[in-house]
Amino acid sequence: MQADHPTSRAVRKTHRRLARLLFGAAGAFGCLASYAFVDHAAGPPGDGGNPHPVPLRLPKAQPLSAVALLGKALFFDPLLSGSGRQSCASCHSPAYGYNPPNALAVQPGGVDLRKAGYRPPPSLAYLYRQRPFSIGPDGSVDDVAPNLNALAAAARKDPRASKLANAMPATPAMVPQGGLFWDGRADSLQRQAYLPLLNPVEMANRSTAAVAAKLAHSRYRQDFAQLFGAGIIDDPQQLVDEAMFAIGRFEIEDPSFHPFTSKYDAWLQGQARLTPAEMRGLRLFDDPAKGNCAACHLDRPTRDGLPPLFTDTQYEALGVPRNPALAANRDPRFHDLGLCGPFRKDLATQTQYCGMFLTPTLRNVDRRAVFFHNGVYHSLTQVLDFYNLRSVAPGKIYPRDAHGRLLVYDDLPTAYQANVDTTDAPFDRHVGDPAPLAAEDIRDIIAFLHTLDDGYSSQAPGRPGN
Ligand code: HEC
Ligand code: HEC
Repeated sequence: MQADHPTSRAVRKTHRRLARLLFGAAGAFGCLASYAFVDHAAGPPGDGGNPHPVPLRLPKAQPLSAVALLGKALFFDPLLSGSGRQSCASCHSPAYGYNPPNALAVQPGGVDLRKAGYRPPPSLAYLYRQRPFSIGPDGSVDDVAPNLNALAAAARKDPRASKLANAMPATPAMVPQGGLFWDGRADSLQRQAYLPLLNPVEMANRSTAAVAAKLAHSRYRQDFAQLFGAGIIDDPQQLVDEAMFAIGRFEIEDPSFHPFTSKYDAWLQGQARLTPAEMRGLRLFDDPAKGNCAACHLDRPTRDGLPPLFTDTQYEALGVPRNPALAANRDPRFHDLGLCGPFRKDLATQTQYCGMFLTPTLRNVDRRAVFFHNGVYHSLTQVLDFYNLRSVAPGKIYPRDAHGRLLVYDDLPTAYQANVDTTDAPFDRHVGDPAPLAAEDIRDIIAFLHTLDDGYSSQAPGRPGN
């Protein structure tokens, strides 16, 4: 499969931007269409309500299956760890939207809980639609409603698109997408659960057999035999497989992983009003000349009414500064390059992907106290300062060496620094340009991000069966 050059990612984002502009003019097409296409936060200030509410297709709430109930018990049981003191929930806490429960850049792990990890735990919520990792045509992921004709017309006028068209005629850009973990190296929730189980800096079990032995002598023995047949107890690999399958079922079936009870979900459905600050924040989030956040953190329902997950499930190199607090970073030769390694091995030669990490969801993001793949920031204000200043005032983002030289993109070896996104707003500016966001803009965007916290409404409005 042909891997694309990073600049074509910008072409895609440009398409999305153009599509927004075009669709913005198409507001007369009836309610659903106009909702989907119009810049929904634009227009007169109004009363904070959504002028074009839509019903959302939410996951049905139903009682957990017996397998998921077993998975739930395992998720909270420290039995699964080598130390006997750490469960999945220790690093992915339900009280924090399945984010880590503290501000540590990385969580302690290992048999003695004294080993430091390399990356902060991502939220486990809202993964129910995540597809396996692939490098495929852009737009094959759930996307905002595309109008193919308008997109095609926009592409014709786009010089960068036609340059791409020369290389791969009529083929959409091929981009890495989907997968779990910051580098997409696990495909299914079941396979994923093996990784922390055996990872020496996480749950640190010696082997699958060691985990199986614990399960075979645990209070779950009977449940496993009942659900998967008596033979399971004597088949270590199968036993652990089913345990991981059960945890995966819990993550998929339990509504706590995808409640959609945020204020923004209520607003999308016409059941809440945003405050003036939240509304301004939404506009800035959507505005290609300001935050442009929605180009990657998708904030609109898909064309068939699925609620937005605030990620396009694609990968970007943002050039996040190195985090000196990580133990691994004491070695100046250590670099976490995301898609091209060191934890993921299969794309090591695809150096155009070095430095790229999965765009995370922003739902419940203010329940986190640690941000980005290396946990370098601890507040949303710091994150927003990074987006705002990286291109225009890098001196405020990166450190200097002993000679006073600015170390721009200091967490990437020089050879890969060209992979850093300098084309998508707000990164398309130059040193000395005015910053896209003023201090009050940043406050407003953060106010909007607060509306993505679950728990605003006790039940997802409109969920069938509720
Ligand atoms: C010591 C802390 C720790 C424990 C315990 C732990 N995890 Fe994680 N988890 C992490 C970290 C760190 C990552 C990100 C790793 C990476 O990207 O390389 C992660 C990633 C994940 C992901 C991918 C999420 C995403 O958005 O891509 C899933 C799913 C997951 N863990 C499930 C589990 C399950 C299930 C358990 C229990 C069997 C568990 N974790 C135990 C730290 C932990
Ligand atoms: C070009 C795509 C892109 C744009 C535009 C973008 N982001 Fe991101 N965002 C990402 C990626 C990729 C990451 C993860 C980067 C990493 O860790 O190296 C990320 C991470 C984040 C995080 C950290 C989340 C976590 O769990 O650690 C926040 C918060 C965030 N973005 C908010 C925003 C806001 C607000 C804007 C608009 C000002 C924005 N993003 C614009 C792609 C984008």
